[in-house]
Amino acid sequence: MRLRFMVSLQKVTFVMAMVGLSLLVIGKISSGQERKIDALYLELDKKYRIPEQWTVLPFELEDPYKRIKNGPPLVNIIHKAKVEWLSRWVANPRAVVPNAKMPNLGLEFEEIKAIIAYLGSIAEKEVPQVSWDAFLLKKEEELSEDEYDKMDKVYNNGKGVWGRARCTICHPIKGVGGNVGVGPDLGEITTKVNRNWLYDWLSNTKSHFPDTMMAQYRFNDADVRGIVEFILRDTQFIPEEKEEEEGEAKPAKPEVKVLTEKEFGSIRKDSALIEKGRDIVEKARCFVCHDIKGIPDLMPVVEKKREGTSGFERLLYEIRCLTCHRIQDKGGTYAPNLTIAGSKIKMKWEHEFLQTPDIIRPLSQQMPKFNLTGEEAKAATEYIEKNLITKEALPDIYKDGMPSAEVVAAGEKVFYEKGCNTCHSESIAKGGGVVGPNLATVGERLQPAYILYHLKNPQQVNPQGVEPNFGLSEDELKQLVGFLVDHVKKEGK
Ligand code: HEC
Ligand code: HEC
Ligand code: HEC
Ligand code: HEC
Repeated sequence: MRLRFMVSLQKVTFVMAMVGLSLLVIGKISSGQERKIDALYLELDKKYRIPEQWTVLPFELEDPYKRIKNGPPLVNIIHKAKVEWLSRWVANPRAVVPNAKMPNLGLEFEEIKAIIAYLGSIAEKEVPQVSWDAFLLKKEEELSEDEYDKMDKVYNNGKGVWGRARCTICHPIKGVGGNVGVGPDLGEITTKVNRNWLYDWLSNTKSHFPDTMMAQYRFNDADVRGIVEFILRDTQFIPEEKEEEEGEAKPAKPEVKVLTEKEFGSIRKDSALIEKGRDIVEKARCFVCHDIKGIPDLMPVVEKKREGTSGFERLLYEIRCLTCHRIQDKGGTYAPNLTIAGSKIKMKWEHEFLQTPDIIRPLSQQMPKFNLTGEEAKAATEYIEKNLITKEALPDIYKDGMPSAEVVAAGEKVFYEKGCNTCHSESIAKGGGVVGPNLATVGERLQPAYILYHLKNPQQVNPQGVEPNFGLSEDELKQLVGFLVDHVKKEGK
């Protein structure tokens, strides 16, 4: 939200407005919530999905929630975070990032100073330096008209990429958003990282943190430059000005002493201080949560084998599908469970969706655009079709021919009589609820056999699902399924 934001607002398409609106709603619902996988869900998940019903998968799935070290490696932290930020963070993580997981270790300023000196001493490679147009390194008020327009173009491109990438479903911003519940709040990220680091994180995510739960997107150079500009310039990533409440004398907060960049310059070669820092880091057991060079690790190190993996296994690792989705007993519960996705989704639709996600669940959750290649989408689709299926094929009542017009009309009647439209919309013209997925093109998306399976007992698939079990008769089921499989993209629809 910058000076010229208002102008570009007019260009926002209907779709983007929908996305924004739904993100806003998600944000409202989630703000301040802490992410835990609901114990009830896990219990039901176990009960409904006993392993005997699962197919045996060709490789063991890696659960991103079960990584060995919860915190990121600290080897190159000095190239990532500004000294002032580090100093405030180690003193009290929650005071810096509202959803921080790291505990307050109660360290004194002198100890923190030594720790930072030590962390500075272990750094390895510098972050690769990107060449930026000179005007991008200027503050907004220093830009000429012409430069401003050029910068604004980069910024607006980045804003679009940011939206499609759905960064905010993992990252809250100033406490709003972050439904998946795994990313740090980015509301003050500009006080922490610099442009070269940000560029490299978004381009080579895994090289910084192999076990990260964040997806390694397939951005091109222009996309990354755009997001970097957007993040560094948009006010949502800058700390809010503290409001001065006039008249009311608030009890002054005790000032936290902060190590400055300048002071760090004078201590970074102080070997006695570095040695002291190393000692504190070891005694404070930072290594329980972090990989830190030079500190003996008391935990058994299990090296994960990733060399030579390919196809869907590689994709799962790089995109981190299981940060959001669940397959069998691994992964998160934010996005649809994929355990039987191969018996649910039509593969042609899925192949397209993986490359360019549609909006199906307007008010709840949308899949980010990762820019998967056609080949990657193919590998995922083939794997899902072959392995993520029910043990016994689901019966398909329309395998020998499409439903007749009478059946479709009867199904439509049942749909509205039962009030399916309170939660679903099946046509843009008629509208409908947005609690459940949009069913306007459900015939293209879901296999008819699965629609029947779902309607017989909605909780069979999602034990927590809010869709009531209507106890539909065989006739009603047949008509409803007929009505829904008829929902494919049509002229003028
Ligand atoms: C109980 C686990 C735990 C311990 C112990 C711990 N940390 Fe952390 N630390 C974390 C986690 C988790 C994060 C990631 C950010 C967050 O909290 O959400 C983190 C983040 C950090 C960061 C920022 C890293 C980055 O890439 O942005 C630094 C620096 C850091 N820790 C330093 C330390 C130091 C120094 C110690 C020991 C004095 C320590 N931590 C002890 C869990 C821990
Ligand atoms: C699947 C969830 C997810 C998505 C989607 C996601 N991130 Fe992240 N991101 C994370 C997690 C988790 C971390 C912290 C590293 C970790 O603990 O694995 C992180 C870390 C970061 C950091 C470093 C923050 C810090 O304080 O160290 C930045 C910057 C960032 N992400 C930007 C983005 C941007 C920009 C996008 C969209 C293009 C995005 N993320 C999308 C999960 C996600
Ligand atoms: C940041 C979270 C996130 C990540 C990571 C993610 N997805 Fe999704 N995915 C979603 C959400 C949310 C939906 C629901 C979209 C909707 O209904 O509009 C979805 C929908 C899907 C669907 C359709 C499922 C259905 O039942 O309708 C498939 C298939 C899918 N994702 C596969 C994948 C694969 C494969 C990967 C990894 C390459 C992946 N997803 C990574 C969030 C994610
Ligand atoms: C109280 C709200 C509600 C009502 C009423 C309702 N549904 Fe649903 N329905 C949902 C939700 C929520 C989901 C998504 C479940 C999930 O994501 O696991 C869903 C899922 C579905 C799906 C599967 C879509 C998918 O992509 O997973 C179909 C098909 C469906 N509903 C059809 C119907 C029909 C037909 C009726 C009326 C007989 C109906 N629903 C009534 C809330 C509702």
